[in-house]
Amino acid sequence: MSKFYITTPIYYVNGEPHIGHAYTTILADAMARHYRQRGADVFFLTGTDEHGLKVQRAAEELGISPKELADKNSASFKRLFEKLELTYDRFIRTTDADHTKVVTEVVNRMKANGDVYLDSYSGWYAASDEAFFDESEIEDGHVKSSGAKVEWVEEKSYFFRLSKYQEPLLEWYNTNPHSVQPDARRNEVASFVASGLRDLSISRTTFDWGIEWPDDPEHVLYVWVDALTNYITGVGAFHDQALFERFWPCDVHLIGKDILRFHAVYWPAFLMSAGVELPHQVFAHGWWMNDGKKMSKSMGNFIDAFELADTYPLDLLRYYLMREMAFGSDGNFVHERVIGRNNSELADNLGNLVNRSQAMTQKFCEGNVPAFHELDGDLGREISLVAEKAQVTLEDMSHLMDEREPHRALERLMEFSSDLNQFIAVTQPWALNKRGETQALESVMYTLLEGVRWLAVMLCAFLPKTSELILAGLGVESKAFESLKWGGLKSGESLTNIDVLFAKMELPVKEEVKEEPKIEAKKEGPKAAEEGIITFDHFMAVELKVGHILSAEKVEGADKLLKLSVDAGEESPRTVVAGIAKSYAPEDLVDQRVAMVANLKPRKVFGTLSQGMLLAVETEDGGLELARYSANVKAGTRIS
Ligand code: MSP
Repeated sequence: MSKFYITTPIYYVNGEPHIGHAYTTILADAMARHYRQRGADVFFLTGTDEHGLKVQRAAEELGISPKELADKNSASFKRLFEKLELTYDRFIRTTDADHTKVVTEVVNRMKANGDVYLDSYSGWYAASDEAFFDESEIEDGHVKSSGAKVEWVEEKSYFFRLSKYQEPLLEWYNTNPHSVQPDARRNEVASFVASGLRDLSISRTTFDWGIEWPDDPEHVLYVWVDALTNYITGVGAFHDQALFERFWPCDVHLIGKDILRFHAVYWPAFLMSAGVELPHQVFAHGWWMNDGKKMSKSMGNFIDAFELADTYPLDLLRYYLMREMAFGSDGNFVHERVIGRNNSELADNLGNLVNRSQAMTQKFCEGNVPAFHELDGDLGREISLVAEKAQVTLEDMSHLMDEREPHRALERLMEFSSDLNQFIAVTQPWALNKRGETQALESVMYTLLEGVRWLAVMLCAFLPKTSELILAGLGVESKAFESLKWGGLKSGESLTNIDVLFAKMELPVKEEVKEEPKIEAKKEGPKAAEEGIITFDHFMAVELKVGHILSAEKVEGADKLLKLSVDAGEESPRTVVAGIAKSYAPEDLVDQRVAMVANLKPRKVFGTLSQGMLLAVETEDGGLELARYSANVKAGTRIS
C-alpha cells in the first residue's frame, strides 16, 4: 500500500450539517486513519459545494448574498469537522481561487476535444437536486426518486456530448468490477447507461451564481461540472503536478446513493473528455433513516449533526454510525440503539476488558507489564491461540477495509475483544495467583496486555480517543501496524491508570419528545420562517388535552422515568412514560390534572409504549415543573 486518496462529497451550503454529512465524513476519516496506520501516503479531501441555483435561492430567501451564505455555512461545516476531530488534509471550497482555474481548464479541454456545442435547452429542472429530469422521471411536478420540485427551463445552453461516452463507460464498468461499488450499484448504473445517454446541458443563463463560462460571460457553468472537478483541484490538477501525480487517480470517492449517477456516469465521462485518468472507485453508501422514517426538509426530521456531537461522546458516535449501518445498505438511527451499543458492546465488552486487565496488573503484577515465559500444556495452547487470533484479526480487518466493509472490520475487532475477555475467564489469573503459579500468571497477564495493545492499535481508526487512552495507559507510543509484531509490548513498563472508558448511559429523556417531526413554519416570506412564526392551523394541529393522573409508578432501571396511567377523557386511560422522576414522587402525582400532548405518535420508552407527552418547564435548579390544572377542570378538556 503506497498511497491512498479518499474524498467525501462536497456539501451544499444552503443548510446546516446533518447526520448524513457527519456519517460520510467520519467514515472517510476512519479509512484515512486506517491507511495511515498501514503506512500509506494518505490524502483525505472534503469541503463545500457553494455555487448553483439552490444556494442562490436560499441566500435570496434570507436576504443575503450567496457568498455570505456560503461563508457562513461553509464555516459551520468546518466547525463541525473540527468538533468531530476529523483528519482531512484539505477542506476545499468551490469558491477557492485555484478551483476556478482548474474548472476552466477542464471545460477548455472538453471544448478542444470537440465535446461541447451550443444549443438551446428546454426541459425540467429540479433546483434542490441541481439536476435535469425526463418526463418519465416526474410525477405531479416532482421528481419521483427524490421528491424534489421541478420547474420548466428554456434557455440557450452549452451541451456536453455525453452520448459519445456511452461505450467507453460501459467498458469501464465491465473491465473494472471495483469501479463502482457495491455491485448492485454498478449494475444499476450500467443499465442506465446501456439504455442510452443523452447529451447534457452544462451551462445556464438565467442566474449568475457560478463559475463563468470561458469566453462567454452570459453563461455560468452547470454546478455539477464545477462540483465534481473539486476532486482533482484538491490534489493539484493543472497547478501542482507533483501533488497530482502523488495522489491521482483517487482510490475511493465515498458518496451517498442519491448522487451515484453524477459520480459514476458524468464524472468519468468528463474526465475522459479532459484526458484525465479515471478514479479507481466510486462507493455509494445507503441512507440514514430517523427511527424508520426517511429524513426530509418537509418532515423537519433531519438529525442535526451538532446536536449529535453534543449528545454523545465522540467515539460512541463514531462507533454507532460505523457499526450500525451495513456499508452500502440503509441504516436506521435510533437513540435507544446508540445507548444499547454503548452499554453492551463498548462498556461491557471493550471497557470491561481494559479495566479488568488494568486492575489485575495492579493487583497481581505491581502495576508493571510482567515478563513472558514459554508455557506448555493447556495454558500454553490458550496463549498461542490469542496470538494467532490477533494476527488473523489484523489480516481480516485490513482485508475488510480494502473491501469497503468497515462495519464488518469493526465487528471483527469487537470479536477479538470478546476473545480476550474469554481468555481471562478461561485462564483465571486470580486462581493462578492464589496457587502461587507465578510464571503462568505472568505469561497470562503479559498475553492479555499484549492482546489489548493489538486491539487498541487496530481500533485507532474507529475509536481514536479510546485507543489513545488505552495505549497511553500501556506506555505504548506507536500506532503503526508495523509495530504489530507479537511480543512487542515491553516487559517492566509501568501502567498508568485509565479512567472508566465508557460509562453506562441511560436514554436521554429529552430525546423522547424530540423525535417527532417538527411542524415546519409556513414560508410566508423569509422573515416569518426565520422568526419561527407558525399559522393558527399549525398550532391547532397539536392536540393539547387535560389529563387526569390515575396512578404513577417508578420504571425499573431508569431513574428519571415514571410510568403513569392518565385519563384523557377517552374510553380507557392512556399509559404515559415521563422523564419526571427526579422532580416528583409517584404518590405526589396521583389525582393531579396536567397538560398533555395527545396526538404524538406513541413510542416505546424503556419497553413501554408511551401514549402521550406531559408539558413541563425546566426550573432554575434543573428540576421539572408540570403544567397543572385545578380539580374543576375535566379530564380530556382541549387546551387551546
Ligand atoms: N453537493 C452535492 C455533492 C457534490 S459532490 C461533487 C450534494 N450535497 S449534499 O449536501 O446534498 O449531500 C451530501 C451527501 O450527503 C450525499 O452523499 C448524500 O447522499 C448524503 N446524504 C444526504 N442525506 C443522507 C442521509 N439521510 N443519510 C446518509 N447520507 C445522506 O449532494
